[in-house]
Amino acid sequence: MCGITGIVSKDRDNIGEVLVRCSRKLTYRGYDSVGVAAVRNGQVDLRKDVGTIDVVDKLLNLSGMKGDRGIAQLRWATYGAPTKANAQPHYGCTADFYGAHNGNLHNYAEYRAELIEAGHIVRSENDGELCVHAVDKYYEETGDMFEAVRLSTRDLKGAFAYAVGKADEPEIYAVKMGSSLVAGVAEGDTIVSSDLPSVLPLTSRVVYLQDGEMVVLTHDDVKVYRVDDGKQLDRQPEISNVDAHAAEKGGYPHFMLKEINEQPTVAQDVLGVLNGRECDNWLRMIEDSSRKYLVACGSSYNAGIVGTYFFNRLAGVSVVPVIGGQFGPMYGNTLDEDTLCMLVSQSGETKDIMNVLNLVKGISKGKTLGVVNVIGSTLMFQADDYVPMACGYEVSVPATKTYFSQSVIFAYLAAKLGERNGFLDPSESKRFVNLLETELPALTQKTIDKTGILTKNLARTLVDVKDLYCLGYGFTDGVAREGALKIKEICYNHCEGMYSSEFKHGPLSIVTEDYPVIFVTTPEDSWMVINHINEVKARHGRTIVVGEFEDSLNHYVDNKIDYLVVPRSDPLLNPLLDVIPLQMLSYYLSVDLGINPDLPRNLSKTLTVD
Ligand code: M6R
Repeated sequence: MCGITGIVSKDRDNIGEVLVRCSRKLTYRGYDSVGVAAVRNGQVDLRKDVGTIDVVDKLLNLSGMKGDRGIAQLRWATYGAPTKANAQPHYGCTADFYGAHNGNLHNYAEYRAELIEAGHIVRSENDGELCVHAVDKYYEETGDMFEAVRLSTRDLKGAFAYAVGKADEPEIYAVKMGSSLVAGVAEGDTIVSSDLPSVLPLTSRVVYLQDGEMVVLTHDDVKVYRVDDGKQLDRQPEISNVDAHAAEKGGYPHFMLKEINEQPTVAQDVLGVLNGRECDNWLRMIEDSSRKYLVACGSSYNAGIVGTYFFNRLAGVSVVPVIGGQFGPMYGNTLDEDTLCMLVSQSGETKDIMNVLNLVKGISKGKTLGVVNVIGSTLMFQADDYVPMACGYEVSVPATKTYFSQSVIFAYLAAKLGERNGFLDPSESKRFVNLLETELPALTQKTIDKTGILTKNLARTLVDVKDLYCLGYGFTDGVAREGALKIKEICYNHCEGMYSSEFKHGPLSIVTEDYPVIFVTTPEDSWMVINHINEVKARHGRTIVVGEFEDSLNHYVDNKIDYLVVPRSDPLLNPLLDVIPLQMLSYYLSVDLGINPDLPRNLSKTLTVD
């Protein structure tokens, strides 16, 4: 949620243009409102309004703003409605101070009241404004900007990062207190940002900040300090090998379609990673724990459910999937040093997951294994070890290739674990791993090719549908939930994903003539799913099937269009492939409904709030 970018430049006067260019790469983090504060000759020009960066740029000519330094912010609204007043950046009491934040201040209400009581002029209902006032307050006391920024962190509770400046001083300061922050050093510019994609247009020389650190940007250097005692840290820039162009659409109309189409390559890349030396450590961590959890949110949680089935089936090992926010209340008092939490997060910044990381590390002394996509994220740095998803950037808000990579990771680890613990015959483990490595990438491509047109046609028949179910059984439980989540997220339809045998325990009552129910299945389970299909058919519902072609299933599909047939493969590869037609169906339906699937309303890709 929210993206901040601060830049200090040596010679340029076109700071607005550079800030807009770099900030555009953070669009996935927030698109409720946008603002830029540009500083020229000790004067701050601050423009902001509601809308995406393109909309606000057009409205206020952000790109034309002059200056040699400044701060931009893209907002995903939490504290305060998405209004112009609540848009960021903010001034302090006067236009001397300017700044913007990402994250949430838990003591917002009390601190706001305290500041107002002390005479501060607070103009918005947004917690980010309080960060600037806190700096303003301590500057009053110390007359020193470095100290003011450092001390300001003491007043603010929560997980956040912010960037601030003083109109008549050449530096920009930023602190990381729980939300992500990365700095970069270019020729003639320095930059600090919530995420790497906005740094890369300027430089690949990056410095990752840790919690409790602050960075001071001058036009030629970034210096890192500890917030608590102000001590300077020796932090040299490292070269990021992330491709700056990876975050571009590459000819596709939307990032989502591009990312769906990248899944064959993702399969190859992630299996390459899993085949490396580090895998042994990941397997040992799983083996050495007596209690194992897969903790995740949203799509990552759905992949975790698929993972649970793989661990049971291939390794005879119980791994409990838990929604991030539920973990503490459900299991917090039962953890010990033999507990392993596999924390699954594309962004590696999701607050619900960070809370679990802190709980496990802090209280129980259990182990944490991150499964993470964003290199340089907090989860990557703070988990005991991490498995990289190897997906490159996933820009589109709906997760596609990262969900896919997570499922592949669990399938692979389960097979390897099964071989090590003797649950699986070594030849069977080798056979399955070999299948993953040699057949999955091509099968993934085949599934995209085979179901692309089908899903496009099916989507057209669903544009007037407002309500549907997506059901899975056994291995396809998580897949069906994921399909439903995609439809909800980017089509704004109510689509519930659930276990197909559970449907008759209540939800079946919703079925009337032509009510659509999507069934996702594998040949192993279709005999059971047919029972559930019959229950819907008997009430004249419309059954749509995702799975391999089987005569027995075809019998229950009224229109050819309602059978999304995936290529024939090993039954254990089915759960990996079945999600692809669901991703594409949601994509085409979203486009048919006139929605931009990359930026669904009300959402943000990185949720660093509780
Ligand atoms: O970055 P994370 O994997 O921790 O994100 C978790 C969810 O917010 C995320 O998967 C969300 O559900 C997706 N946008 C769904 O497509």
